[in-house]
Amino acid sequence: MKILMIGGNGTIGKKVTAALSGHNLIIAGRSKGDILVDINSADSIASMFRQLQTVDACICTAGTGYYGDFATTTEECGASSDGLRITALPAASAPSTGRKPMT
Ligand SMILES: NC(=O)c1ccc[n+]([C@@H]2O[C@H](COP(=O)([O-])OP(=O)(O)OC[C@H]3O[C@@H](n4cnc5c(N)ncnc54)[C@H](OP(=O)(O)O)[C@@H]3O)[C@@H](O)[C@H]2O)c1
Repeated sequence: MKILMIGGNGTIGKKVTAALSGHNLIIAGRSKGDILVDINSADSIASMFRQLQTVDACICTAGTGYYGDFATTTEECGASSDGLRITALPAASAPSTGRKPMT
């Protein structure tokens, strides 16, 4: 299968990538990879899918997050954590953005 692995160079992504080593993997990342994408940007996601044309599956482990002591973790830490915002929301929208008719 041709599998798009967004965040494939990250800590979690490398484990997932290793488990799928028999497949045709395309690693996407913000700063390095087979193809670059910023999943905070719908335009960037659309551009990536225009370049890729089609994939059989898309896995997203990309994201950032705040990790710290419970005692020093504030509400702002969670609210500003990209982990939730960019892992959950664009990951959910990435496939639909990619499904838009290509022009
Ligand atoms: N590791 C854990 O134990 C753990 C536990 C629970 C939850 N999580 C969550 O799981 C997610 C991934 O964790 P991780 O430990 O694998 O992180 P990581 O090692 O920092 O790797 C993150 C990967 O996501 C990519 N990425 C980040 N922002 C991106 C963006 N806007 N567009 C495209 N790619 C982007 C990074 O690419 P670049 O390096 O090129 O920027 C990198 O390949 C995070 O949201 C984290 O909060 C992790």
